[in-house]
Amino acid sequence: MMNFLGNAYFWVKAAHIIFVIFLMAGLFMMPRYFIYHQETPIGSEEDRKWIHRERKLRTIILNPSLIIVWILGLMLMVNIEAWTMPWFHLKLLLVLLLSAYHGWMIGYSKKLARGIRPLSDRQLRMLNEVPGIMAAAIVILAVVRPF
Ligand code: HEM
Repeated sequence: MMNFLGNAYFWVKAAHIIFVIFLMAGLFMMPRYFIYHQETPIGSEEDRKWIHRERKLRTIILNPSLIIVWILGLMLMVNIEAWTMPWFHLKLLLVLLLSAYHGWMIGYSKKLARGIRPLSDRQLRMLNEVPGIMAAAIVILAVVRPF
């Protein structure tokens, strides 16, 4: 299936990177929302506003972007038979971990909507660093291909 994308290859790669940007924007915004949200009294008007904002970010940005990044990424994988390349093995592991982080974040926003707030402000701020570090490693693997 090598080069099955033909002339569409560069458009698919461009779209892959564009939706990666949207995904990362959502992954950076949501923990910030959690921190501000947890400063509001449970059941208050402000609490309800943050629940609404988190639902919007989840359904309009985060979930669609992750799905599209995977679909376009797998098309690129087949197009260059990336499974033969060691850099891609590690990249795939990291994007699976990033997808798991995404899943955790979706779960946490649903907990907040039920008034459950298990993590402290400090823990949320530390977790907020995870997507940035992972994105840097993933982009270096995809562009530099060190092995
Ligand atoms: C979700 C699953 C993903 C899969 C299956 C995937 C797969 C791929 C493949 C196979 C390529 C190589 C295309 C080529 O050069 O022909 C690629 C390129 C790229 N990917 Fe992904 N990717 C995924 C997620 C991500 C994520 C989360 C990021 C960033 C955080 C990312 C960043 C990039 C970049 C920057 C390139 C372009 C590299 C270049 O052309 O030099 N990808 N991706």
